[in-house]
Amino acid sequence: MKARKPDKRIPLLDVNLSREAKQLVARTLASGWLTSGPRVREFEQAVAAYMNVKHAAAVNSCSMGLQLALRSVGAGPGKEIVTTPFTFVATIEAILATGARPVFADIEPHTLIMDTDEAARQLSRKSLAVLPVDIAGHPSHYGALKEICHSRSLHLIADASHSFGALYGGKSIPRLCDAAVYSFHSTKNLTCGEGGMVVSRRRDIIEDVRRLALHGITKPAHERRAKKTWAYDVTDYGFKANMSDVHAAIGLGQMAVFDSDQASRRKLVERYLESLGDLADYIELPRTAEKTQPAWHLFIIKLHLSRLKISRDGFIREMSRRRVECGVHYKPVFELAHYRRTLGLDSRQFPNTVSAGRRVVTLPLYAGLTAAQVDYICESVRDILTRFGRQS
Ligand SMILES: Cc1ncc(COP(=O)(O)O)c(C=O)c1O
Repeated sequence: MKARKPDKRIPLLDVNLSREAKQLVARTLASGWLTSGPRVREFEQAVAAYMNVKHAAAVNSCSMGLQLALRSVGAGPGKEIVTTPFTFVATIEAILATGARPVFADIEPHTLIMDTDEAARQLSRKSLAVLPVDIAGHPSHYGALKEICHSRSLHLIADASHSFGALYGGKSIPRLCDAAVYSFHSTKNLTCGEGGMVVSRRRDIIEDVRRLALHGITKPAHERRAKKTWAYDVTDYGFKANMSDVHAAIGLGQMAVFDSDQASRRKLVERYLESLGDLADYIELPRTAEKTQPAWHLFIIKLHLSRLKISRDGFIREMSRRRVECGVHYKPVFELAHYRRTLGLDSRQFPNTVSAGRRVVTLPLYAGLTAAQVDYICESVRDILTRFGRQS
């Protein structure tokens, strides 16, 4: 039976705010302490325990977390950081903000994560760190990346903004690198509205990030109050990137439902994969790399454009006419106006990024999405592909 067009548009991303989050926010507001304080510490400890590492520093965004983690390992002018051009612009901004130079390695065509051989080829005497991006929640090849970094004394800093809860070889991402940086932006699978966290086995990195995130101050206000002292010093040129207790309360409350939210996402992904499995002539479905358990932040398909009489944007418009919002993750960084002007990259060096950038479409995925909505979305995809597919 053909599913009815929904009365309301199905959004690409949505937040499933838990009862626990609302209660914790109310309690935090009533506590009278709103800026960084005990709730932030609780959130940091909860995330560190969840990742099975010792240390975590909450910040106001993953963008700042990346920048401060890079600064902690010595990023600055004269240094190079190897990353991928198939990412959100924030990854590149974080590198540039330190004064270091981003150097780009192409992605793998199917998984969309960094091609490790390419990354190794981009290393030079100026290389300081490798910064892979766990696109859509798919862990990068941490086994190979660790080896590359270890053999050349490089740092491995993960842009794990999409991969909260993902595992590689049964281990959390922070256990496999020097630091993993998460995003809690409101579209992410764990949110606190806006925020981020640097999570690491290394105490030195976390202490640096915590200090740099608050003007380089040695003792933040809540610690001074607890110790009944006004005294502090400033040991570094710092930034204003701390997380507030109100945001931490949302994050902690969302952690209470994280595992069940993730189980819902996995079920929806299975439904997508099963439903769309016979459309391989027209689309490529997401692939899970060996040894990984993805976090499924996004569900990205790739259109086989040569077999279709419709463009990618035409496909997205057709989905929109059927009241389904789709997205594009991502337009390659070197195709964005500012970076086209300033990076001076030759896109021919990144054929897989260019190809993915033209073909990717993100379908809705979030814990609150229903099985019936997924069925309707799949029916809409099938409808468009059969209408616009070329016969082979
Ligand atoms: C790949 C990637 N890196 C970094 C970020 C930055 O995260 P935030 O918004 O928390 O700064 C994002 C945000 O969407 C992202 O998608």
